[in-house]
Amino acid sequence: MAYEVKGVVARSKGAPVTVETIVVPDPGPGEAVVDVQACGVCATDLHYREGNINDEFPFLLGHEAAGVVSAVGQGVTNVQVGDYVILNWRAVCGQCRACLKGELQYCFNTHNAAQKMTLADGTELSAALGIGAFVEKTLVHSGQCTKVDPAAPATAAGLLGCGVMAGVGAAINTGGVRRGESVAVFGCGGVGDAAIAGAKLAGATTIIAVDIDDRKLEWARKMGATHTVNSKDTDAVEAIKGHTNGFGVDVAIDAVGHPAVFEQAFYARDLAGRVVLVGVPTPDMTITLPLIEVFGRGGAIKSSWYGDCLPSRDFPMLVDLYRQGRFPLDQFVTEAIGLDDVEEAFDNLRQGEVLRSVVVLDK
Ligand SMILES: NC(=O)c1ccc[n+]([C@@H]2O[C@H](COP(=O)([O-])OP(=O)(O)OC[C@H]3O[C@@H](n4cnc5c(N)ncnc54)[C@H](O)[C@@H]3O)[C@@H](O)[C@H]2O)c1
Ligand SMILES: [Zn+2]
Ligand SMILES: [Zn+2]
Repeated sequence: MAYEVKGVVARSKGAPVTVETIVVPDPGPGEAVVDVQACGVCATDLHYREGNINDEFPFLLGHEAAGVVSAVGQGVTNVQVGDYVILNWRAVCGQCRACLKGELQYCFNTHNAAQKMTLADGTELSAALGIGAFVEKTLVHSGQCTKVDPAAPATAAGLLGCGVMAGVGAAINTGGVRRGESVAVFGCGGVGDAAIAGAKLAGATTIIAVDIDDRKLEWARKMGATHTVNSKDTDAVEAIKGHTNGFGVDVAIDAVGHPAVFEQAFYARDLAGRVVLVGVPTPDMTITLPLIEVFGRGGAIKSSWYGDCLPSRDFPMLVDLYRQGRFPLDQFVTEAIGLDDVEEAFDNLRQGEVLRSVVVLDK
């Protein structure tokens, strides 16, 4: 028996999202249905709505969520009905080239549910990042469910499902930030602030937040930034060198995903430093760099998918740190909203009013 529930759909490029009836099938082999309790509004949802990811409209948006497993399909053993889970968008396959090399965080064949959720008229929906969680119930692959301590409220825990994990992981996993290092983070939204909190957790002693909005810089300080730079009216590269004895940072993280910002990150690092791109560029963006500078500066240029996380390792760890008061998950939640408020949340995101609006579903 399929379920009929309410969910948030982007029907066409740039059009305001609408709340629609969504048909969620019973879970098939390897699948699970999850009663969503909370789902954060991430900039990537807006990218989908704008047609920047692909043209496979209509999309069922939302992908940063926590909830309770309400049904499982045949052969599911990793979770059971009643488990409290965070949804992840990289359920590793264990069999591809990356997995067989032991590099599961790069899995090239991650799993999603085989069946599609649909609109009431049968139109198949593309689930954002293979999840689709601005909805009362969602269908996922069971590997997309990571069980965590139910003592962590869904509003906070759900954020680990995307933006916060991406930012923390960009610093800790991809950037490999170590004790005593210096880090610059460009773009202090949910992802950038998580990179700042992650750098602090890893023991970085100089953490420079860069944004074009003073409010974001204030919030970044609360997350652990030791210095702030408003790059609207200041040369970010010079300012960063000024805070690092003229050398630049060990790790520069672009959490915007824009060529001009990436270029700043590239030049703001010390010799042999690492540049991490975690912001998502649009397909039309290009960058030109003098190859001699790429060579001469040494170090590494890396991109960070989902913070190179392993959900099974990293979600429970971050929930534990949060429960111990060592990771400020609650600080990312600016407002709790309903399914009807997602369009307004996109406006607030664009205008820099929020770190995270979180859709909370009444049970
Ligand atoms: N790699 C991943 O796995 C992953 C996961 C989640 C999100 N993302 C991406 O990360 C990016 C950030 O997401 P978010 O939710 O934090 O978005 P956000 O809109 O909340 O934050 C973006 C921040 O960048 C700032 N900014 C914009 N232009 C700037 C500029 N030129 N210089 C400095 N700062 C600038 C904004 O003021 C804002 O504070 C998005 O591109 C999103 O799609 C990537
Ligand atoms: Zn794999
Ligand atoms: Zn996201």
